[in-house]
Amino acid sequence: MEGKMIRLRGYEFSDLDFVMKWINDEDVTQFLGSGMVAFPISSIAERKFIEQAGLSESPSNKIFVIETLADHRPIGTISFNGIDWVNRHSPVGIMIGDKGCWNRGYGTDAMRVLMRLAFDKLNLHRLWLHVYDYNQRAIRSYEKCGFRREGVLREQRYWSGGYHDIVVMGIVESEYRALSAS
Ligand SMILES: CC(C)(COP(=O)(O)OP(=O)(O)OC[C@H]1O[C@@H](n2cnc3c(N)ncnc32)[C@H](O)[C@@H]1OP(=O)(O)O)[C@@H](O)C(=O)NCCC(=O)NCCS
Repeated sequence: MEGKMIRLRGYEFSDLDFVMKWINDEDVTQFLGSGMVAFPISSIAERKFIEQAGLSESPSNKIFVIETLADHRPIGTISFNGIDWVNRHSPVGIMIGDKGCWNRGYGTDAMRVLMRLAFDKLNLHRLWLHVYDYNQRAIRSYEKCGFRREGVLREQRYWSGGYHDIVVMGIVESEYRALSAS
């Protein structure tokens, strides 16, 4: 699954050292779900996670490594975090863990590849996500992909001594088709 700058692939054990850096870097984890922020994550736990993710046995949770097309370097991960096969929607998540790669279009490219997979191959109808209000880079990137702001969970996120809003964003299939056509 290739975009303009990246491809998505399954996890390998060789990704462990890269992922360990990303998930223990507070510059990155401040933007992720609260489970990722509370404690340092050991290589033992992460290896187990990679093994399970790599086996890809869950029908609803699928996670991929984002790798650069130019030099096959892993720079992050992207995921379906609970596909609902009846109502045909899924929450999605993304982490460009390599900070040197922020603001260079990789995240937007990866999300577009995931959208193609969701709408063109898996016949999903809707994708959605939660993003913290202080993560303006992510919000901008999702807007570029066609996601719309759908609502706000007020003061749902405690971070750095204060409460912050969570923005709910989503895109439905018709919006994706209209964007693809234009
Ligand atoms: C969020 C993330 C996926 C975006 O990917 P990316 O490759 O960095 O983003 P892109 O370069 O594709 O797009 C970023 C856009 O935001 C803009 N941007 C950057 N900082 C911004 C800010 N503070 N305010 C508004 N826009 C900003 C960039 O200029 C760019 O827009 P442009 O192309 O119109 O100039 C990536 O930065 C990331 O994974 N960050 C850490 C973890 C994270 O936040 N995950 C998402 C959790 S919801």
